[in-house]
Amino acid sequence: MISSTLLSVATLAGAALAAVDCTGVNAIAPGCASQESLHYRDFFYIGGRYVAGAAGNLTYDQVYVEKLTPASGVNQSHPVVLYHGGGTSGVTWLNTPDNRKGFASHLLDYGYQVYIVDQTSVGRGSSENLNDYVMRIGSTAEITEKGFTAPELTNAYPQSQEHTQWPGTGVRGDPIFDAFESTFIPLTSNLTVQELSMRSAGCQLLSLIGPSFLVSHSIGALHPLLLSNDCPQLVAGNINLEPGNIPFQSYVGNATSSVGRTSARPWGMTNTYVTYEPAISSSSELTYELVGDDTPANRSCYMQTGTIHKLTEIAKVKYVALTGSASPHITYEHCVIDFLQQAGVAAEWIKLADKGITGNGHFGYLEKNSPQIAGVVHDWIQANC
Ligand SMILES: *[C@@H]1O[C@H](CO)[C@@H](O)[C@H](O)[C@H]1NC(C)=O
Ligand SMILES: *[C@@H]1O[C@H](CO)[C@@H](O)[C@H](O)[C@H]1NC(C)=O
Ligand SMILES: *[C@@H]1O[C@H](CO)[C@@H](O)[C@H](O)[C@H]1NC(C)=O
Ligand SMILES: *[C@@H]1O[C@H](CO)[C@@H](O)[C@H](O)[C@H]1NC(C)=O
Ligand SMILES: *[C@@H]1O[C@H](CO)[C@@H](O)[C@H](O)[C@H]1NC(C)=O
Repeated sequence: MISSTLLSVATLAGAALAAVDCTGVNAIAPGCASQESLHYRDFFYIGGRYVAGAAGNLTYDQVYVEKLTPASGVNQSHPVVLYHGGGTSGVTWLNTPDNRKGFASHLLDYGYQVYIVDQTSVGRGSSENLNDYVMRIGSTAEITEKGFTAPELTNAYPQSQEHTQWPGTGVRGDPIFDAFESTFIPLTSNLTVQELSMRSAGCQLLSLIGPSFLVSHSIGALHPLLLSNDCPQLVAGNINLEPGNIPFQSYVGNATSSVGRTSARPWGMTNTYVTYEPAISSSSELTYELVGDDTPANRSCYMQTGTIHKLTEIAKVKYVALTGSASPHITYEHCVIDFLQQAGVAAEWIKLADKGITGNGHFGYLEKNSPQIAGVVHDWIQANC
């Protein structure tokens, strides 16, 4: 009786499967197979503290960490920890907006133990700390279209015309764009508080899991750099997909216009303290100036002047930035590399086009050729572990 019931359920599921459209969001239907790699999943909260409130004691500043283990077993010597960028969360490493295999799964396929972090204040990393994490809008549809998914339409920088890898039209109304835009959530405007909680919990995480490769996207690059400063012996390498922590400035609105720049990150690439040599006790002791010609294709950058202070702890960790040929970052990522090199960090820059990987915008790891980008990350790890 039981087995015949099961059989009829299975038959029904099979019949449903044949009829079901599994493209895009339709893949949520029970009959649709996952594109992700077979893995086990566990979650943990790391760090944080109790803070006495009027209603009772609250947990503040713990970091959400998801542990993904390949079903076929781990065969790489070091784990990989993924740090999402601003306005999004750890979901960005899972199945892509057009429901292809996500970046985390590509790393599982290579045999890595993978950890996905939700930054403090964001997603499942949000805590009862309502006081310190002042939140702001993550990304409007307009910012996403112009900056990430369809920069070619507004042509704010010449390289935008080479953008070919976003799946779909990259504008509102396209189901892939709508699925992607829906992943944006508020982010905190107090990065000082976020950096402090992330660096404290981050070194605790690494002391539990051992030396790891840290892979970040965009402004998520703040955190691996801070961990390189605080516990360099626990960071096997620091891999940054389009790092967003450009020295001493941020780009707002028209990302390539010089009027769209605001001062940011007083410690150079971070908002909070990092070790420099000669030692400084205040970021105001750093002196810097704008250097280089400024064109829409290649931006001017802040570099130190006068006494050049070296990032002696950060320099202990290997650093690489990966940049897409059609991303706004191709116009200013040299600022990151030049600043780090001047500060004594042997920073490496991989322009993806030099590896024959072309047409990528800022979210290359979600775009059509994302498997190739995962391959570049894997190759770099293999060459540096
Ligand atoms: C919070 O915890 C502390 C230490 O255990 C305790 O003294 C205090 O009464 C708690 N606060 C509230 C409001 O329950
Ligand atoms: C690890 O396992 C993956 C998946 O089975 C395989 O492709 C890869 O070659 C293996 N790597 C090592 C170093 O054994
Ligand atoms: C960030 O939060 C901290 C702690 O509440 C506060 O001291 C600081 O002034 C805030 N910074 C900004 C820019 O709001
Ligand atoms: C952005 O600024 C650049 C340089 O000032 C200008 O050429 C371009 O038209 C602007 N693009 C947009 C979308 O506003
Ligand atoms: C861009 O500008 C930097 C200086 O800021 C310079 O070193 C570099 O050669 C320039 N790149 C191109 C492609 O012009």
